[in-house]
Amino acid sequence: MCLYFINRYRQKNPKWENEACLVFENTDIFDLHRFIPEYKPTQLINLPNLAKTLGIKQLFIKDESFRFGLKAFKALGSTYAIYRIVKDYLRNQNRPEIKIENFYNSNFLKPNEIKFCTATDGNHGRAVAWAARKLRQKAIIYMPGNSVNSRIENIRLEGAEVIVVDGSYDDAVNRAAVDAKNHGWQIVSDTSWPGYEKIPQYIMAGYLTMFREIHQELEESATIDALFIQGGVGALAASASWFYNKEYHFSTPKLISVEPTDAACLLASIKSKDGLPISLKNVQNSIMAGLNCGTPSLVAWPFIKTRFDMFMSVSDEFCVDAMKRYYNPTGDDRQIISGESGAAGLAGLLALLNHKSAQVIRNKLNVGDESTILLINTEGDTDPVAFDTLVRKPAKL
Ligand SMILES: Cc1ncc(COP(=O)(O)O)c(C=O)c1O
Repeated sequence: MCLYFINRYRQKNPKWENEACLVFENTDIFDLHRFIPEYKPTQLINLPNLAKTLGIKQLFIKDESFRFGLKAFKALGSTYAIYRIVKDYLRNQNRPEIKIENFYNSNFLKPNEIKFCTATDGNHGRAVAWAARKLRQKAIIYMPGNSVNSRIENIRLEGAEVIVVDGSYDDAVNRAAVDAKNHGWQIVSDTSWPGYEKIPQYIMAGYLTMFREIHQELEESATIDALFIQGGVGALAASASWFYNKEYHFSTPKLISVEPTDAACLLASIKSKDGLPISLKNVQNSIMAGLNCGTPSLVAWPFIKTRFDMFMSVSDEFCVDAMKRYYNPTGDDRQIISGESGAAGLAGLLALLNHKSAQVIRNKLNVGDESTILLINTEGDTDPVAFDTLVRKPAKL
């Protein structure tokens, strides 16, 4: 199943005036990342054979499955947010400032001086735990009840304490916020709510490094016509909105959000009265675990609402098809290991291309034989057991 909705709030040239704009304009984001010892730009992969099969001109995949050895893009956000939090903490204590180049490779904090806390479907929590461990600090990570073992274990392996709540991702967010307040822990959430805005802004801004890498590599050699981008709480999508509206000047790519059918909170919000963010009431149980979020991030939403062109939801079978296409390339296309949430962008593209009555929409979105499409493989096989079952060794019928 696939649903799509053209955005009636799209503005040609949105003028955003809020606090998050100042954060997006920070000039220290890329510097912070490039001084992290594990930093290396991830690859931008051209898949000419898949593009031909799909009937489009060019297909580029930014492969975040190799980011920092964590199999997902998320640490771009958590490392920047934690850097900013600790900088403020040192300043408030009148302690000396730490040079950006030394931040993630020196022991300037006492062990466990700060306790970081967040909720996660897997990747963000692992990224927070990883950054905390680098600074010798403790992390306490809340996860929804349907989290799989491998994602829980990967977070524990970073030395974090994991608390699995009896409920959804949104329930985990609420529990983390309450417990952090009661215990005086520092919450590092990628989603935001009234009164908790600054840190999620840092996280969205941290994701800009990925878009900057893509276009440093492409320069003017290819302009992007459309980007299909997966939506969880919308922080990544908001970062794309900012980048393609404010930093990229070669063309105006169409931005298309892709969410699981069960967890399409961005789609539901754009359809709601006045396009205000709303929370889903249903259970979110897609295999695209990283996208199983029921409520858009408050600080992300204004950027998405006025810049995205279309909102789609896709059922899990499109995602499995996309994972398999990445894993079984045709001709000399490169193989890509793409986990469930990582493959969601391609799932959206496949769904749109397969939809018989969507020709008008495809034309409107510049998705056709002249188009260059960009997708982001936001995660690798973060659940290797499911990856084996779905992709490597699917049961024969
Ligand atoms: C692999 C993966 N892709 C995409 C997303 C969506 O990002 P956001 O929640 O910022 O929309 C997530 C969120 O956790 C994720 O883990």
